[in-house]
Amino acid sequence: MKTITSIADLRTLARRRVPRAIFDYADRGSYDEVTLRRNRADLEALQFRQRVMIDLSQLSVATTVLGEPWSMPVAIAPTGLTGLFHRDGEIHGARAAEKAGVPFTLSTMSICSIEDVRGAVTKPFWFQVYLMRDRGFNQELIERARVAQCSALVLTLDLTVQGVRRRDIKNGLSIPPRLTLKNALDIATKPRWALGVLLGKRRTFGNLESHMKGTGGLVTLSQWIASQFDVSLTWKDIEWIRSLWPGKLILKGILDAEDAREAMATGIDAIVVSNHGGRQLDGAPSSISVLPEIAEVVAGRCEILFDGGVQCGQDVLRALARGARACLIGKSFLYALAAGGEAGVSLGLDILRRELQVSMGLTGVTDVRRVDRGVLRGG
Ligand code: GLV
Repeated sequence: MKTITSIADLRTLARRRVPRAIFDYADRGSYDEVTLRRNRADLEALQFRQRVMIDLSQLSVATTVLGEPWSMPVAIAPTGLTGLFHRDGEIHGARAAEKAGVPFTLSTMSICSIEDVRGAVTKPFWFQVYLMRDRGFNQELIERARVAQCSALVLTLDLTVQGVRRRDIKNGLSIPPRLTLKNALDIATKPRWALGVLLGKRRTFGNLESHMKGTGGLVTLSQWIASQFDVSLTWKDIEWIRSLWPGKLILKGILDAEDAREAMATGIDAIVVSNHGGRQLDGAPSSISVLPEIAEVVAGRCEILFDGGVQCGQDVLRALARGARACLIGKSFLYALAAGGEAGVSLGLDILRRELQVSMGLTGVTDVRRVDRGVLRGG
């Protein structure tokens, strides 16, 4: 592909560059993928009010989130297996984010470890955790994040049990990836990936290595989740996390006003309105459709981040209009990474930034911190 003008172009390139099992892991959702499709459809359905004759000479997309300056209201979401999309993918993502002036979130289920990423960047990144049955291991992970000076902890709430991703099962996705009779032809057409990742030194869960002894090293993601994640997680456990992590705490996976109310009672710093990119409860509403009611409950008491289908700058503007302070990108990030490593992610972030600037200009908003429902038809 000669000219890349959109996240969709990066997705096309990603599909060509990484094996099918890896691409599908990012691209697809759970069960019938109803929620996955809703995320996009409901964003696209929101229409802007085109406004003219407004002075745009001072247009700015810079914002502040959790007291930190961001160059635009976009951060990189925690995504599992990132280092299988490109060799040392988490390092590439973190570097691109640092250069762009936005946060990078490292997933517990990453390929590069917390320490690998810490060694490759100068600014603090965010770390995401799940609550696991082995609380001692949780404590250890949070301690490692503290030592690495991570600036926020993101606790994922919506993955105590995993939604079935049918494509992953059919594709036989395993960690580390294996060359099999079934995928040999596919991998043969992706020599750059095979050289980079399959022959690279980091191919399994970097944060979990010490904890994975006895599993023989090779697991499917769903086996790992089923055996390790704590299904007894309740709101009370937030206190325990708080006692270990006095820094900024973000709860990810709020999709219901009732849960937003519960979250507020825990006194956290931010929530992420999210249905896990349509990868968990299929049949759940799109994130964008519930955002206004959640924003109403939160009523400015904490910061609201948003994810779920953000694939262009217009989507960022839509989410901001409906009450988010900023958006996280998961799929869009992985497409960009698979397409071109750090340069791909830089390009992806750049595309989103420019699209946001233009869309703001044409809706007549000059300061991204002042976006409100007035940019949308019907509010
Ligand atoms: C992990 O969070 C996943 O959605 O696969």
